[in-house]
Amino acid sequence: MAPPMPHAPPAPLQDPLSIRRLYGRRQGHPLRGPAARRVDELLPRVAIPPEGPLDAVRLFGRACPLALEIGFGKGEHLAFQARRNPQTGFLGAEPFLNGVAGLLAEIEAHGLANIRIWHGDALDVLERLPDAALSAVYLLHPDPWPKARHAKRRFVNPGPVGLVAARLAPGGEFRMATDHPVQLRHMLTVMHAHPAFEWLAETPADWQAIPDDWPDTRFGAKARALGHEVWRLAYRRR
Ligand SMILES: C[S@@+](CC[C@H](N)C(=O)[O-])C[C@H]1O[C@@H](n2cnc3c(N)ncnc32)[C@H](O)[C@@H]1O
Repeated sequence: MAPPMPHAPPAPLQDPLSIRRLYGRRQGHPLRGPAARRVDELLPRVAIPPEGPLDAVRLFGRACPLALEIGFGKGEHLAFQARRNPQTGFLGAEPFLNGVAGLLAEIEAHGLANIRIWHGDALDVLERLPDAALSAVYLLHPDPWPKARHAKRRFVNPGPVGLVAARLAPGGEFRMATDHPVQLRHMLTVMHAHPAFEWLAETPADWQAIPDDWPDTRFGAKARALGHEVWRLAYRRR
Protein backbone atom coordinates (compact mmCIF):
# COMPACT_ATOMS: atom_id res chain seq x y z
CA MET A 1 0.00 0.00 0.00
CA ALA A 2 1.35 3.47 -0.81
CA PRO A 3 2.42 5.46 2.27
CA PRO A 4 0.28 8.46 3.24
CA MET A 5 1.40 11.66 1.52
CA PRO A 6 1.72 14.39 4.16
CA HIS A 7 2.30 17.06 1.50
CA ALA A 8 -0.25 15.91 -1.06
CA PRO A 9 -1.72 18.81 -3.03
CA PRO A 10 -5.13 19.96 -1.78
CA ALA A 11 -8.15 18.40 -3.48
CA PRO A 12 -9.46 20.63 -6.29
CA LEU A 13 -12.32 22.92 -5.34
CA GLN A 14 -15.70 21.55 -6.29
CA ASP A 15 -16.61 22.36 -9.85
CA PRO A 16 -14.91 25.79 -10.12
CA LEU A 17 -14.90 25.54 -13.89
CA SER A 18 -18.60 25.01 -14.37
CA ILE A 19 -19.05 28.38 -16.08
CA ARG A 20 -15.65 28.67 -17.76
CA ARG A 21 -17.28 29.72 -20.97
CA LEU A 22 -18.18 33.38 -20.82
CA TYR A 23 -21.64 34.22 -22.06
CA GLY A 24 -22.88 37.73 -22.78
CA ARG A 25 -21.58 40.72 -24.69
CA ARG A 26 -17.87 41.53 -24.89
CA GLN A 27 -18.36 44.85 -26.67
CA GLY A 28 -21.15 47.31 -27.47
CA HIS A 29 -20.82 50.39 -29.65
CA PRO A 30 -17.27 51.03 -30.90
CA LEU A 31 -15.28 53.21 -28.51
CA ARG A 32 -14.18 56.61 -29.75
CA GLY A 33 -12.57 59.80 -28.43
CA PRO A 34 -11.67 59.91 -24.72
CA ALA A 35 -13.11 56.42 -24.06
CA ALA A 36 -10.85 54.87 -26.73
CA ARG A 37 -7.88 56.87 -25.47
CA ARG A 38 -8.44 55.65 -21.90
CA VAL A 39 -8.55 52.03 -23.08
CA ASP A 40 -5.31 52.52 -25.04
CA GLU A 41 -3.39 54.56 -22.47
CA LEU A 42 -4.89 54.21 -19.00
CA LEU A 43 -5.98 50.55 -19.06
CA PRO A 44 -2.43 49.17 -19.47
CA ARG A 45 -1.40 51.16 -16.37
CA VAL A 46 -4.20 49.84 -14.15
CA ALA A 47 -4.68 46.36 -15.63
CA ILE A 48 -4.16 43.27 -13.50
CA PRO A 49 -1.08 41.50 -14.93
CA PRO A 50 -2.07 38.64 -17.24
CA GLU A 51 -0.14 35.92 -15.45
CA GLY A 52 1.21 34.84 -12.11
CA PRO A 53 -0.01 34.92 -8.53
CA LEU A 54 -1.71 38.09 -7.33
CA ASP A 55 -1.25 39.89 -4.03
CA ALA A 56 -1.54 43.41 -2.68
CA VAL A 57 2.16 44.24 -2.94
CA ARG A 58 2.36 43.12 -6.56
CA LEU A 59 -0.81 44.99 -7.49
CA PHE A 60 -0.59 48.15 -5.38
CA GLY A 61 3.03 48.29 -4.21
CA ARG A 62 1.95 48.00 -0.55
CA ALA A 63 0.32 45.63 1.88
CA CYS A 64 -3.38 46.52 2.11
CA PRO A 65 -6.79 44.85 2.35
CA LEU A 66 -8.15 43.67 -1.02
CA ALA A 67 -11.73 43.61 -2.32
CA LEU A 68 -13.12 42.28 -5.61
CA GLU A 69 -16.14 43.31 -7.67
CA ILE A 70 -17.33 40.66 -10.13
CA GLY A 71 -19.01 42.09 -13.24
CA PHE A 72 -18.75 45.77 -12.30
CA GLY A 73 -20.76 46.98 -15.32
CA LYS A 74 -19.84 50.64 -15.86
CA GLY A 75 -17.97 50.69 -12.56
CA GLU A 76 -19.91 53.26 -10.50
CA HIS A 77 -20.21 51.02 -7.45
CA LEU A 78 -16.55 50.01 -7.57
CA ALA A 79 -15.47 53.64 -7.90
CA PHE A 80 -17.78 54.58 -5.01
CA GLN A 81 -16.20 51.95 -2.77
CA ALA A 82 -12.68 52.92 -3.86
CA ARG A 83 -13.31 56.58 -2.98
CA ARG A 84 -14.83 55.64 0.35
CA ASN A 85 -12.05 53.18 1.30
CA PRO A 86 -8.78 54.65 0.02
CA GLN A 87 -6.69 52.22 2.09
CA THR A 88 -8.26 49.18 0.37
CA GLY A 89 -7.04 47.89 -2.99
CA PHE A 90 -10.02 47.16 -5.27
CA LEU A 91 -9.95 44.61 -8.07
CA GLY A 92 -12.67 44.71 -10.70
CA ALA A 93 -13.38 42.04 -13.32
CA GLU A 94 -15.58 42.77 -16.32
CA PRO A 95 -15.48 41.22 -19.79
CA PHE A 96 -17.58 43.98 -21.42
CA LEU A 97 -15.12 46.51 -22.87
CA ASN A 98 -17.58 49.42 -22.79
CA GLY A 99 -18.03 48.74 -19.07
CA VAL A 100 -14.25 48.79 -18.57
CA ALA A 101 -14.21 52.15 -20.37
CA GLY A 102 -16.83 53.42 -17.90
CA LEU A 103 -14.67 52.47 -14.91
CA LEU A 104 -11.60 54.04 -16.55
CA ALA A 105 -13.55 57.31 -16.82
CA GLU A 106 -14.32 57.13 -13.07
CA ILE A 107 -10.66 56.41 -12.26
CA GLU A 108 -9.56 59.41 -14.31
CA ALA A 109 -12.27 61.77 -13.03
CA HIS A 110 -11.56 61.02 -9.37
CA GLY A 111 -7.81 60.30 -9.58
CA LEU A 112 -8.34 56.84 -8.05
CA ALA A 113 -5.07 55.01 -7.39
CA ASN A 114 -6.55 51.98 -5.60
CA ILE A 115 -8.29 50.14 -8.47
CA ARG A 116 -6.92 47.42 -10.74
CA ILE A 117 -8.93 46.05 -13.66
CA TRP A 118 -9.24 42.62 -15.20
CA HIS A 119 -10.87 42.83 -18.61
CA GLY A 120 -12.26 39.31 -18.55
CA ASP A 121 -13.70 36.55 -16.40
CA ALA A 122 -13.63 37.09 -12.62
CA LEU A 123 -12.79 33.39 -12.14
CA ASP A 124 -9.36 34.10 -13.69
CA VAL A 125 -8.68 36.59 -10.89
CA LEU A 126 -10.11 34.45 -8.12
CA GLU A 127 -7.98 31.48 -9.16
CA ARG A 128 -4.77 33.50 -8.95
CA LEU A 129 -5.34 34.98 -5.50
CA PRO A 130 -4.16 33.19 -2.37
CA ASP A 131 -6.71 31.83 0.07
CA ALA A 132 -8.15 34.36 2.54
CA ALA A 133 -6.80 37.24 0.41
CA LEU A 134 -10.04 39.24 0.13
CA SER A 135 -11.91 41.25 2.72
CA ALA A 136 -14.98 41.74 0.51
CA VAL A 137 -16.51 40.42 -2.72
CA TYR A 138 -19.32 42.20 -4.58
CA LEU A 139 -21.56 40.53 -7.15
CA LEU A 140 -24.28 43.01 -8.04
CA HIS A 141 -27.01 42.08 -10.48
CA PRO A 142 -25.23 39.17 -12.15
CA ASP A 143 -26.84 38.00 -15.38
CA PRO A 144 -29.88 36.00 -14.18
CA TRP A 145 -30.03 33.33 -16.91
CA PRO A 146 -33.62 32.64 -15.82
CA LYS A 147 -34.25 29.54 -17.95
CA ALA A 148 -33.64 26.32 -16.03
CA ARG A 149 -31.51 24.93 -18.85
CA HIS A 150 -29.16 27.94 -18.49
CA ALA A 151 -28.81 27.67 -14.70
CA LYS A 152 -25.18 26.49 -15.00
CA ARG A 153 -24.28 29.86 -16.55
CA ARG A 154 -25.14 31.76 -13.39
CA PHE A 155 -22.11 32.95 -11.45
CA VAL A 156 -23.74 31.84 -8.23
CA ASN A 157 -23.20 28.11 -8.47
CA PRO A 158 -21.35 25.75 -6.14
CA GLY A 159 -18.00 25.90 -8.00
CA PRO A 160 -17.58 29.69 -8.19
CA VAL A 161 -19.10 30.18 -4.73
CA GLY A 162 -16.60 27.66 -3.34
CA LEU A 163 -13.79 29.68 -4.91
CA VAL A 164 -15.15 32.91 -3.38
CA ALA A 165 -15.36 31.15 0.00
CA ALA A 166 -11.72 30.07 -0.26
CA ARG A 167 -10.45 33.51 -1.23
CA LEU A 168 -12.44 35.48 1.36
CA ALA A 169 -10.80 35.94 4.74
CA PRO A 170 -12.78 34.81 7.78
CA GLY A 171 -15.15 37.66 8.65
CA GLY A 172 -15.05 38.94 5.05
CA GLU A 173 -18.30 39.88 3.34
CA PHE A 174 -19.84 38.55 0.14
CA ARG A 175 -22.48 40.99 -1.06
CA MET A 176 -24.85 40.34 -3.92
CA ALA A 177 -27.93 41.97 -5.36
CA THR A 178 -30.61 41.02 -7.82
CA ASP A 179 -34.05 42.10 -8.93
CA HIS A 180 -34.78 38.76 -10.58
CA PRO A 181 -36.93 36.33 -8.54
CA VAL A 182 -35.46 33.23 -10.21
CA GLN A 183 -31.93 34.45 -9.53
CA LEU A 184 -32.89 35.36 -5.95
CA ARG A 185 -34.21 31.90 -5.19
CA HIS A 186 -31.15 30.32 -6.80
CA MET A 187 -28.77 32.57 -4.83
CA LEU A 188 -30.48 31.74 -1.55
CA THR A 189 -30.45 28.01 -2.32
CA VAL A 190 -26.76 27.90 -3.30
CA MET A 191 -25.56 30.22 -0.53
CA HIS A 192 -27.50 28.53 2.21
CA ALA A 193 -26.16 25.14 1.17
CA HIS A 194 -22.58 26.42 1.58
CA PRO A 195 -21.25 25.86 5.08
CA ALA A 196 -18.72 28.72 4.90
CA PHE A 197 -21.32 31.48 4.73
CA GLU A 198 -23.58 33.04 7.32
CA TRP A 199 -26.45 35.21 6.09
CA LEU A 200 -26.38 38.58 7.83
CA ALA A 201 -30.08 39.41 7.41
CA GLU A 202 -32.27 39.39 10.48
CA THR A 203 -35.35 41.20 9.23
CA PRO A 204 -36.73 42.04 5.76
CA ALA A 205 -35.29 45.55 6.15
CA ASP A 206 -31.85 43.98 5.90
CA TRP A 207 -32.41 42.90 2.30
CA GLN A 208 -34.67 45.79 1.27
CA ALA A 209 -32.86 48.83 2.74
CA ILE A 210 -30.22 50.82 0.87
CA PRO A 211 -27.39 51.30 3.37
CA ASP A 212 -25.05 54.30 3.06
CA ASP A 213 -22.18 52.08 2.02
CA TRP A 214 -24.10 50.19 -0.67
CA PRO A 215 -25.69 52.44 -3.29
CA ASP A 216 -27.76 51.07 -6.16
CA THR A 217 -25.80 50.17 -9.25
CA ARG A 218 -26.93 51.20 -12.71
CA PHE A 219 -28.85 47.92 -13.05
CA GLY A 220 -30.35 48.31 -9.61
CA ALA A 221 -31.57 51.82 -10.39
CA LYS A 222 -33.03 50.67 -13.72
CA ALA A 223 -34.83 47.82 -12.00
CA ARG A 224 -36.38 50.14 -9.44
CA ALA A 225 -37.44 52.56 -12.19
CA LEU A 226 -39.31 49.64 -13.78
CA GLY A 227 -41.05 49.02 -10.45
CA HIS A 228 -39.07 45.88 -9.60
CA GLU A 229 -38.02 45.05 -6.08
CA VAL A 230 -34.26 44.88 -5.51
CA TRP A 231 -32.93 42.35 -3.00
CA ARG A 232 -29.55 42.69 -1.31
CA LEU A 233 -27.97 39.63 0.23
CA ALA A 234 -24.96 39.97 2.51
CA TYR A 235 -23.07 36.93 3.81
CA ARG A 236 -20.18 36.74 6.23
CA ARG A 237 -17.37 34.23 5.67
CA ARG A 238 -17.28 32.11 8.83
C1 LIG B 1 -26.45 42.60 -15.51
S1 LIG B 1 -24.85 43.25 -15.59
C2 LIG B 1 -24.69 44.10 -14.05
C3 LIG B 1 -23.58 45.13 -14.07
C4 LIG B 1 -23.37 45.88 -12.75
N1 LIG B 1 -22.93 44.99 -11.70
C5 LIG B 1 -24.60 46.63 -12.31
O1 LIG B 1 -25.23 46.19 -11.35
O2 LIG B 1 -24.92 47.65 -12.93
C6 LIG B 1 -23.86 41.80 -15.33
C7 LIG B 1 -22.40 42.04 -15.68
O3 LIG B 1 -21.63 40.89 -15.33
C8 LIG B 1 -20.63 40.74 -16.31
N2 LIG B 1 -20.16 39.34 -16.23
C9 LIG B 1 -20.80 38.23 -16.66
N3 LIG B 1 -20.08 37.12 -16.40
C10 LIG B 1 -18.94 37.56 -15.78
C11 LIG B 1 -17.78 36.90 -15.26
N4 LIG B 1 -17.64 35.57 -15.34
N5 LIG B 1 -16.80 37.67 -14.70
C12 LIG B 1 -16.94 39.01 -14.62
N6 LIG B 1 -18.01 39.68 -15.09
C13 LIG B 1 -18.99 38.97 -15.66
C14 LIG B 1 -21.32 41.11 -17.60
O4 LIG B 1 -20.41 41.48 -18.61
C15 LIG B 1 -22.18 42.28 -17.16
O5 LIG B 1 -21.52 43.52 -17.30
